[in-house]
Amino acid sequence: MTTRVIQMQFKDMLNNKAEAINDIIKGFLPAEDTMSCEVEKAMNYSVMAGGKRIRPLIMSEAYKLCGGSEECAAQVLHPFMAALEFIHTYSLVHDDLPAMDNDMYRRGQLTTHAAFGEDMGILAGDALLNYAYETMLRAACDMTDTYRERSIRAASVIAGKAGIYGMVGGQTLDVKLTGMPMNAGQLDYIFRLKTGALIEAAFMAGAILAGAPDEVTAKLEKAGDLVGVAFQIQDDILDVTGDAEVIGKPVLSDEKNNKTTYVTLYGMDKAVSDVAELSNEAVDIICSIGGEGFLADLVKYMIHRNN
Ligand code: IPE
Ligand code: IPE
Ligand code: MG
Ligand code: MG
Ligand code: MG
Repeated sequence: MTTRVIQMQFKDMLNNKAEAINDIIKGFLPAEDTMSCEVEKAMNYSVMAGGKRIRPLIMSEAYKLCGGSEECAAQVLHPFMAALEFIHTYSLVHDDLPAMDNDMYRRGQLTTHAAFGEDMGILAGDALLNYAYETMLRAACDMTDTYRERSIRAASVIAGKAGIYGMVGGQTLDVKLTGMPMNAGQLDYIFRLKTGALIEAAFMAGAILAGAPDEVTAKLEKAGDLVGVAFQIQDDILDVTGDAEVIGKPVLSDEKNNKTTYVTLYGMDKAVSDVAELSNEAVDIICSIGGEGFLADLVKYMIHRNN
């Protein structure tokens, strides 16, 4: 089989899995039936806009890799997949706000604040973050002791990676250093936290819910860190070379905001080669614990993505 055919088969599998994840996520979204349903509408609008669903997909593949029960997945894994996508989506809704990157398009449609107003953009982000914890804790309450214990640990990892030692910390330094000179250590800190942390959470939560030993979870955390940095470098590359129609968000947003990016700091050639190097390192870790196959292919795909 040619490489092209293998890539097409992989792309089909990826699309099918993303579709299945969309159905799962839909099942956890709020009904738009309260007197304050404007916020629910804005939440559903932003979540169902059609992201790549990389984080829930990684979580589900890590769960499988670590021997997680297929029978229990709906009760144990799915609420966490949805919750992590809610947190990721909230991070995007707030990232696009006028006070942050001030962008008008996301996932191929108007950003939440552009469609619903800035007030609803802020509140829909808050609501998605809170709803993520509601979703995880509600599920944990209904579980048997073993799964409840795993769920609490998974929720604790997700909460930590989303907060000041994770995504929010990275976003904070990102906005604070906007328009200012930045050194390599600061850029690394930003990438590892603003993007790496939620990807680490995806790998780790899948492993923890499956009952993986701590050493395996730690290896997947390291893989997530490498994938996360590679993913953000590729995002910076696409901000320059991408097609707005394909990436579903504006190009040259970083330049507009006077951001230091991997491309402005190191140049395009090094950015491209570092994405490949970091991804290969992540693939080696994943393969060392038996993850050759779809999960390793997913990491390789993430570096060649054009969206
Ligand atoms: C965008 O994440 C923000 C970054 C961390 C680079 P994704 O590229 O995963 O966005 P969606 O979920 O597919 O829209
Ligand atoms: C990542 O950085 C954003 C988050 C962690 C939410 P960017 O600001 O580059 O992400 P995009 O390009 O707007 O998706
Ligand atoms: Mg940003
Ligand atoms: Mg942005
Ligand atoms: Mg970007």
